[in-house]
Amino acid sequence: MISLNAEDRKWVDGIWAKLDRKLSKTAVDVFDFIPYTTKEGIYVEPPKEGPVWWTNGFYGGMMWLMYHMTGKDVYKACAEHQELMMDEAFQIYDGLHHDVGFQWNLLSKAHYALDGNPKSRVRALHAANILAGRVNICGKYIRAWDKLNLSIIDTMMNLPLLYWASREVADDRFRFIAEMQADMTMREHVRPNGSVAHEALHDDLNDRVIETRAGQGYAVGSAWSRGQAWALYGFILSYIHTGKEAYLDTCKKVADYFLEYAEKTNYKTPTDFNAPPEPFYIDNSAGTCAACGLVDLYKTTHEDKYLTGAIRILRALEEDCIFDDSSQSILQKGMESYGRGKQLHLIYADFFLVEAIAKLKNSDFLIW
Ligand code: GLY
Repeated sequence: MISLNAEDRKWVDGIWAKLDRKLSKTAVDVFDFIPYTTKEGIYVEPPKEGPVWWTNGFYGGMMWLMYHMTGKDVYKACAEHQELMMDEAFQIYDGLHHDVGFQWNLLSKAHYALDGNPKSRVRALHAANILAGRVNICGKYIRAWDKLNLSIIDTMMNLPLLYWASREVADDRFRFIAEMQADMTMREHVRPNGSVAHEALHDDLNDRVIETRAGQGYAVGSAWSRGQAWALYGFILSYIHTGKEAYLDTCKKVADYFLEYAEKTNYKTPTDFNAPPEPFYIDNSAGTCAACGLVDLYKTTHEDKYLTGAIRILRALEEDCIFDDSSQSILQKGMESYGRGKQLHLIYADFFLVEAIAKLKNSDFLIW
């Protein structure tokens, strides 16, 4: 149970009312396609990869969160339709990669958790099998994408699907694979100072990492903020699902690094903490995702700095929110990658905003 001071509670309740007002309209207006970003305030589909695009679970997942919090059918109808539209993806092999956790965890595992829908359970288990099937038993990691022998930090956020499947069908193989990936990530991606490498290139036969890579960050050795957020939230989720202390310790290390750097820019999250100060590219998706992890870390450790940090990050990004009808999306400043050099709306920034505020309202539903 989180008790906020009166001012923060008022702020959280105010944001929540604005989210509900806006999203209950969006749920009707944006129903028949899966949104990714906006053009001139209007939602558009992902530019490539169609049904297998990695972010395709976030809009539906956001609708499940809203349904859980409000009980409004308009959210449920939208979420169910989003889930159905994603069935087409199961017919495509290329592109069903490590991110199936982002997709069916949020669409189908969430649906199954909320109303026990048996078809959703099957979808989520299919997705868990696809994810587990990507394990490289020599290199001891889950292979990212369909090129090179890469592991990436993003996969931490996909592991909850495996922990769930392990319990759901009483089969430890799923959990073993998830823990293998989390253990490898601690060893190879997390640096001693708590920052995190996006990508690692593996030499499978010799079970070693050849090099780490910048990936979507600024440079080799830098700290891509969404990658830091994937690690922060991903490790506390692995701790919640397994109880392994090493995951909690790693989460704290990553969180301390995140907060130390976020403070330097008044809690506005730059796209890479180690990039030059100009141009200052904000990535609000990193801020909202990190805030979710910080709230759960606070609930686990009761250390005030994590709750205070989450609230500071969320309050700092409020000025980038649009709650009126001038844009269908909410948060306007996200970055796909540092190299893209362009801030845009990203659906997952909104998802994590909703999730973070729901957590601060003491939601008892962990969607991951
Ligand atoms: N999972 C890809 C990204 O964070 O952009």
